[in-house]
Amino acid sequence: MKKFLSYLLVFLALIQLVRPKKNRSEVVSQNQITSVMKVPQDVQALFKRSCNDCHSNQTNYLWYHEIAPMSWMVAYHIKEGKKHLNFDEFGTYNSRKRDRALEEISEVVESGEMPMKGYVAFHSETKMSPEDIQMVKDWVTSLNLKHE
Ligand code: HEC
Repeated sequence: MKKFLSYLLVFLALIQLVRPKKNRSEVVSQNQITSVMKVPQDVQALFKRSCNDCHSNQTNYLWYHEIAPMSWMVAYHIKEGKKHLNFDEFGTYNSRKRDRALEEISEVVESGEMPMKGYVAFHSETKMSPEDIQMVKDWVTSLNLKHE
């Protein structure tokens, strides 16, 4: 048992050497969603609060996000999240991709798919209230998107 524990400690120490690059851009993006369209302040605040950790170039890390294997999981979610939607790169999307992203935002918020449940469990402040969800849906509907 003692031997097992010391192996485990060495293993845990070794995996700390593999440190994913942080998602903390040094520059303020010129391609933020607000650079190409009007987003109401309260919708912006909501995205910032509940989505930006995985869908922007600025993640707010907590101390335990530094520890492997948690750090690896966080890096993976950010990579996958940004692949689908990056509010800091939104301005580079063509109009079709923008419309599709907005449509999807409305859908995943309504279905409760986003923000991810495992994440909300650790960040209770990111939980979306029924009013928050309605606000996002109403905003997307008000945009009268051309591409379905
Ligand atoms: C903890 C990280 C995390 C948070 C927070 C988060 N997402 Fe995601 N999001 C992901 C990941 C990972 C994927 C890719 C999921 C997949 O491949 O199935 C994703 C995918 C998406 C997609 C694409 C869905 C699709 O079906 O292609 C949309 C849209 C989206 N997220 C919107 C949001 C919105 C809006 C919020 C905030 C209300 C949010 N996400 C919060 C990690 C996150």
